[in-house]
Amino acid sequence: MDGAIDIRHEARARTYAEPLETLNPAQPDLFAADAFWPIFERLRAEAPVHYTPESAYGPFWSVTRYNDIMAVDTNHQVFSSEDGIALQSLEAKAEAAKRPTRQSFISMDPPKHDVQRKTVSPVVAPANLERMAPVIRERAGIILDALPIGEEIDWVDLVSKELTAMTLATLFDFPFEERRKLTHWSDMMTNAPGHGPVQSWDHKRQELDVCFGTFRQLWNERVDAPPKFDLISMLAHGEATRNMDVNEFNGNLGLLIIGGNDTTRNTISGSVYALNRYPAQYAKLRENPALIPSMVSETIRWQTPLSHMRRTATQDFEFGGKTIRKDDSVVMWYVSGNRDDAVIEDPEAYIIDRPRPRTHLSFGFGIHRCVGNRLAELQLTIIWEEILKRFPVIELAGEPTRTHSVFVKGYESLPVVIPRRN
Ligand code: HEM
Repeated sequence: MDGAIDIRHEARARTYAEPLETLNPAQPDLFAADAFWPIFERLRAEAPVHYTPESAYGPFWSVTRYNDIMAVDTNHQVFSSEDGIALQSLEAKAEAAKRPTRQSFISMDPPKHDVQRKTVSPVVAPANLERMAPVIRERAGIILDALPIGEEIDWVDLVSKELTAMTLATLFDFPFEERRKLTHWSDMMTNAPGHGPVQSWDHKRQELDVCFGTFRQLWNERVDAPPKFDLISMLAHGEATRNMDVNEFNGNLGLLIIGGNDTTRNTISGSVYALNRYPAQYAKLRENPALIPSMVSETIRWQTPLSHMRRTATQDFEFGGKTIRKDDSVVMWYVSGNRDDAVIEDPEAYIIDRPRPRTHLSFGFGIHRCVGNRLAELQLTIIWEEILKRFPVIELAGEPTRTHSVFVKGYESLPVVIPRRN
């Protein structure tokens, strides 16, 4: 832990010593050390629309203030998603160029985006969520009841991953007992070689072939069966999606596996971490469980499970006093916008009963705004209702290990102890 404080201290000094022109927020080492904050603090104050000429991801613009991010996110005519929505390392780009790209509607512009999104939306619409809620609750109870009391456990592994895998299995109607395959495949998709379970590019490709093969088989079974309310069946029968080619099917599947996995998983871990760092908030929650939904939103803001989304300019565009050129990469740093005190009062603090807790950028805005946002909130709400019924407290037993990524902002492990049951 002391080492981590040193790294953060050094990061602040380095940030303010460096010329503004070369400042580069896209450094996974800083994200893994939780030491990136000073860069955004400086960019918001001194260069809210900023150009990094050189990085492992190539050159890119950073947009770091809340309202500027909203402006980019809601202007899909100028800021296109077609060329991908995350910073991609030059190495990963070269690797991707070797095979056909998996396309999904998060990286499409209208009209195709809108048509495909419309087919997926009903799976996570209120009526279907109501159908899923009791199953999620029952399965959450099973996972929590199996936790050992009085010994150190890894919350990420035993709870966050289990719960999100379980919800995804429910969403896909994927065999429940094989749910951890979904976690594994999501980790395979999001990590570069040397990180998470990925040993090499070949290893990644082989494992993802197994993933997509398994889903292809489920698709084939469901396309011949009567329509049901799971996602695969909806895609297989949906007018806009039933003729998807294999790359599009794989892309949309990958999107849902990642979209519904890392983000929610890291919010579950983030809630336990934040409540421990702010014990008065934890006490407030215990005394008043009606605060759970607002605590969930505050955690989603405070954690910001996806640090950024990226766009590509379709034309030269004047923005924030700068000229963004056609084809330039533009990164909306949600993680920074969520700490902008021009819009959010006392943004560093975690306050579970703040007014308007859904005022945050974590789900994005505009036509790509997270389609699963209500499912994520529902899942988080149910898990905390079930936790509070069972455990008076979950205690942090050490600092978390953080994800080495400038995109997924989360935890690899989080040691905790549950001292007793209610
Ligand atoms: C706390 C949890 C979650 C967070 C923070 C999150 C965040 C995001 C963000 C930032 C975007 C892009 C918004 C933009 O570009 O403006 C997005 C899109 C998306 N998310 Fe989520 N998400 C979460 C949970 C989920 C879940 C549970 C699902 C799956 C069921 C899901 C599925 C998707 C899909 C399909 C899109 C693409 C929407 C489109 O392009 O129209 N997400 N999400």
